[in-house]
Amino acid sequence: MKYIFFLILLLMACGRKTTSPELGKDGLYTEPYRPAFHFSPARNWTNDPNGPVYYKGEYHIFYQYNPYGDTWGHMTWGHAVSRDLMHWEHLTPAIGEYPDPLTGDSTMVFSGTVVVDENNTSGLCRGKDCMVAVYTSHVHARGEGKRQHESLAFSDDDGRTWKRYDKNPVLDIQRKDFRDPKIFWYKPQNKWVLVLVVPDLHKVQCYESRNLTQWKYVSEFGPLGDTSKIWECPDLFELPVGNSDQRRWILSLSGSHPQGSTFVGVQYFVGKFDGSKFTADDPKQKPLYVDYGKDFYAGIVYNHLPEENNQAIMISWANNWAYANKTPTSPWRGAMSMPRELSLRQTGEGIRLFQKPPDTLRSLRDGEVHGEISGKQLELEVEITLASAKEAGIKILKSGDEETIIGYRVESGELFFDRTHSGNVSFHKDFASVESLKLNPVKGKIKLHIFIDQSIVEVFANDGEETISDLVFITKDDAKVETYSKNGEATFKVKAWRMKSVW
Ligand code: FRU
Repeated sequence: MKYIFFLILLLMACGRKTTSPELGKDGLYTEPYRPAFHFSPARNWTNDPNGPVYYKGEYHIFYQYNPYGDTWGHMTWGHAVSRDLMHWEHLTPAIGEYPDPLTGDSTMVFSGTVVVDENNTSGLCRGKDCMVAVYTSHVHARGEGKRQHESLAFSDDDGRTWKRYDKNPVLDIQRKDFRDPKIFWYKPQNKWVLVLVVPDLHKVQCYESRNLTQWKYVSEFGPLGDTSKIWECPDLFELPVGNSDQRRWILSLSGSHPQGSTFVGVQYFVGKFDGSKFTADDPKQKPLYVDYGKDFYAGIVYNHLPEENNQAIMISWANNWAYANKTPTSPWRGAMSMPRELSLRQTGEGIRLFQKPPDTLRSLRDGEVHGEISGKQLELEVEITLASAKEAGIKILKSGDEETIIGYRVESGELFFDRTHSGNVSFHKDFASVESLKLNPVKGKIKLHIFIDQSIVEVFANDGEETISDLVFITKDDAKVETYSKNGEATFKVKAWRMKSVW
């Protein structure tokens, strides 16, 4: 048995890899709770998205993957490609926990990123360019406990096969926790920049390199903002502010959750980056979060987009470490958020991130729903005019006593997402929850753009000013949508579309 396993690995390592039969989708993607337009592996466990990169017409997604089971373990980079960020083709895992045929390296492959080495600065490419991955190699040496350092792998065939660099690791500070490198090309100074975290010290360290293999420490950021949890998965990217000539850098990182307690989420800082150092515009700023739901983690933006300078597309893990190993799905566990377009706008409170679902998602609309609305795969546009109501909102996935409420409380000025009666909440004691965030009505109105996808709900409020993403597991079938108001009047405009599956 063992030999057959190694034979399969050898074959996987030698031949050019195409679509993976192991990951094929025959008979899959129709299971209860299976997202229809969010990415999930056909089988087994996933957590963070890794190395999102656009190259030769393909959007690649790699992801923390356990090829052997549906809970965390054996961390390997799963891999899929898409031409539109919606329809995905599964490929065989890119870099795995199994021994690399070239180097014998069998460390676990933790989160990281992929760049296109356009001018073969690394000398690793056979031709003029290639894809280079940088990831955390997580070592479990017997007797020595764990160690984390940064390693490279590269691909000369559009990401279909990967080799680990034979002089790994390329960055090692002899630390137990030192991980999640993000690299990008910094054009003004013709160099590579790498940011990663020292999780327990709440620090993001910054390194630079001309060749991806030798790295020089240049600065660090933190502790700052929310430090109630360890820091993970940093990212650093630049965006214009609205239509102005101003630009700002965003440093995002995962860890602390806007609702505190046992949960995790993604916070961000707005600031400047001079090629070596990120400085927050307002170090005293109260923490800002990308998403206020429980299920948005390890968000990271695409590298090498066609119009890279004006765009950032972020994708995240739609789950939460608090209960991720227990969610009631099979034969897969874990999925990604929708890829989101990020932008910056000047607001009364400062420069803030705004988010938008990709326009291409419209092509998945499968007819507008008129009259009574119901369904587990829906896009909703809801406009609530608050009038005299003290509270108003929408109930979704409603069936008998099960419902998920997305509502607005006028007095506290809060939008909330209540999944306490959403269905199966018993698989983990912390799952039943209510999240809320401050939101101002615009001309007396609250606008909600809601995507319901079987077990994932993403809400974009007031044209993407804030978002809430949450998992829900309903146990019944009719899944109705209803508006409601309390203690006064509110009026609603609701548009709804059924959504097709991409699988
Ligand atoms: C974040 C994380 C990363 C790490 C990976 C391991 O969710 O903990 O810090 O690289 O997951 O799977």
